[in-house]
Amino acid sequence: MEGDLTNRELRIQKRIKDSETHVFKAVFPGQTNHHNTMFGGSVLYLMDEIAFMTATRFCRKPIVTVSSDKVDFNQPIPAGTLVELTGTVVRVGRTSLDVRVDVFVESMYRDGREKAITGAFTLVAINESKKPVPVLNDIEY
Ligand SMILES: CC(C)(COP(=O)(O)OP(=O)(O)OC[C@H]1O[C@@H](n2cnc3c(N)ncnc32)[C@H](O)[C@@H]1OP(=O)(O)O)[C@@H](O)C(=O)NCCC(=O)NCCS
Repeated sequence: MEGDLTNRELRIQKRIKDSETHVFKAVFPGQTNHHNTMFGGSVLYLMDEIAFMTATRFCRKPIVTVSSDKVDFNQPIPAGTLVELTGTVVRVGRTSLDVRVDVFVESMYRDGREKAITGAFTLVAINESKKPVPVLNDIEY
């Protein structure tokens, strides 16, 4: 219940909402394999990129990916479709956070979309010496 949350938790919830990131891409031939569907490596590249953008927008600090969790490729993504990638912070640790990335596919010429891929990434905030630092400055919270 919102009434039970501390001020810090409420601010974290707001940052999570504000950092939700959405990117659309057109699936053109350069990204497809010999099955004429999107190449898995190309999708993973985009997923890591949106995880990075989401984490950066959440904490506004230099960020690196430290781990990627299981990625489920549930549906092929045909050439000539549109994909939407969404990134959401789902866990905030001390120096790390987790971002869930979902990939939705939609036809260019029909309404509607389906979730095709989902995965999770852990990212760490670092300083100039590339050492982990808190994702949030408690002074500000
Ligand atoms: C990210 C990096 C700075 C972390 O250094 P480290 O010495 O492992 O740091 P720590 O052990 O203090 O861990 C820092 C945080 O990362 C988390 N973490 C470390 N390794 C992890 C892993 N494999 N999976 C999930 N979380 C991990 C820790 O739990 C900790 O989180 P917390 O502070 O929220 O509790 C270091 O591993 C690194 O530079 N990795 C390369 C990053 C990179 O180049 N990424 C691009 C990929 S090509």
